[in-house]
Amino acid sequence: MYNCGMLKFRKISSISNGGFGNLTPIEFPTEIPFEIKRIYYIYDVNGNEKRGNHSHKKLHQVLICVNGNVKVKLTNHFDEKEFILDDPSVGLYVGPDNWREMYDFSEGAVLLVLASNEYDEEDYIRDYDEFIEHNRKKFGDK
Ligand code: TYD
Repeated sequence: MYNCGMLKFRKISSISNGGFGNLTPIEFPTEIPFEIKRIYYIYDVNGNEKRGNHSHKKLHQVLICVNGNVKVKLTNHFDEKEFILDDPSVGLYVGPDNWREMYDFSEGAVLLVLASNEYDEEDYIRDYDEFIEHNRKKFGDK
């Protein structure tokens, strides 16, 4: 699948100060393919609501569902696929030119996003027809 894929991070299960728990560290550049310039998280989303519905021209992101679960559908010029994020030690890398839809947020789901750049509305494509045309110009006719 073009410009996206699952990343498996470490899950360190340990007892620290007598308390058992899991810990997932993420280090650049060994575990994530870009330098993180921004972090945000999406939460308190009703199960019947959809987020996303846009692509980015240059931005690289990793999506991690740190609590609960959520589905993410990615569509690009070549392919489309639905991913289920339900493990805090797993991330979904999403590169440029992928239209993303996030839905079926479970109760209490928290979707953490690591991003390669500061927020820039100019980097968004929010219109699906414009997304198709952008990809056609970039990759050619199907
Ligand atoms: P948007 O990226 O459309 O959210 P989602 O992908 O979850 O659907 O952003 C929603 C709003 O938040 C929009 O008004 C822009 C604003 N926003 C920021 O101000 N900074 C940010 O880093 C992000 C991601 C969004």
